[in-house]
Parts: sequence; C-alpha cells; structure tokens
Amino acid sequence: MGSAKRAMDGGQDEKVVLACLLHDISNACLIRTDHGYWGAQMIAPYVDEEVAWAVQYHQALRYFADPSVGYTYPESYHRFFGEDFVPPDYIRRDAEYARGHRWYMSARNVTLNDIYFFDDMGEMPDPEIFTDLIVPAFPPAQPGPRFRRITDRAYVADDDLAEQLSLSMCSCESRNTGPKALRP
Ligand SMILES: [Fe+2]
Repeated sequence: MGSAKRAMDGGQDEKVVLACLLHDISNACLIRTDHGYWGAQMIAPYVDEEVAWAVQYHQALRYFADPSVGYTYPESYHRFFGEDFVPPDYIRRDAEYARGHRWYMSARNVTLNDIYFFDDMGEMPDPEIFTDLIVPAFPPAQPGPRFRRITDRAYVADDDLAEQLSLSMCSCESRNTGPKALRP
C-alpha cells in the first residue's frame, strides 16, 4: 500500500497505482520466488492487461538501473545478494525485453515507487483510498455455498474451498529455466 500511495501522490495514472498496489501480492501468498510472474498470473483475469504486465516485469527490472528515469540498483541488494550477484539468464532476458516494450514505463514506475519491506515505510495509508481502484477490478464476492459472509463487504471461502486454494498455491514451484513470460 505504501508503494501505491507513493505512486498516487506522484500523480501516476490508475493502472500504475493499481500495479503498485498489487505488485507483491504473490509474496503475501508465500510465493516469493519469481513473485512478479506468479503475481501477474494471479491478477491477470481481473485487471487490465497492462497492469498484469507491469507486475510481471517489475521483478526483472528492479535489478537493472535506469539513470534516465532516476532508478538505481537497490543498495540493499548488495547485502542480500552479494556484491558479485548476477541475475539469472531469464531475468536478464525479460528485463531486456521489457526495456523495449511500449509498457516499459508502467513496470519501471512500479520499481520507482517500490518500498521494500526493509525500508522505512512510514505510516501505513488508509486502504479506503484505493477503493475506487480495487472494487471495479475485484467486485465483492456474492454469497453462495462456497463463501460465507463476515462483514457487509467481505466474504471468506468455506473451509473446503480454502483448503483447495491453499493446496493449489503450495504446489507451485519455480523452474530452472524461468517462468513463461506474458508477451502481448
Ligand atoms: Fe516486487
């Protein structure tokens, strides 16, 4: 939310703000490896194609500086990955591809507005400020046999559905050759 608030305050358009809001959604589901690729697949059925694309490619682009727009390699990556770290082939391939794409700045703006969990996020913004972006993309679920209402606007999956969802997410594995990229 901090990244999306920063993008919103910086005057970014709604697609970029939504991409910032969702860009690490896969991390919340504990799919950290290749989180941009997994996250893009999770949201692709619900959001504009450009938003999912930006979420996917922010992952590769965050490793590569772009001085023309003021993006530098994150200082913390030196500590995390080591001074000699070289991103794997598929990350370098996809960053190169993204750099030449018409939606490059959408993905780049996700990296520019990213606030890493180890950075000072400041005060957490009120989630309500994103309602107009989120609700059209993810309308509240309707009550039904597989969902149970917990508030006026929120439903949770029944236990059997929740179990299926968690099983399908836990069965995900990254591949040595890298995930298949979305390439419209
Ligand atoms: Fe990320």
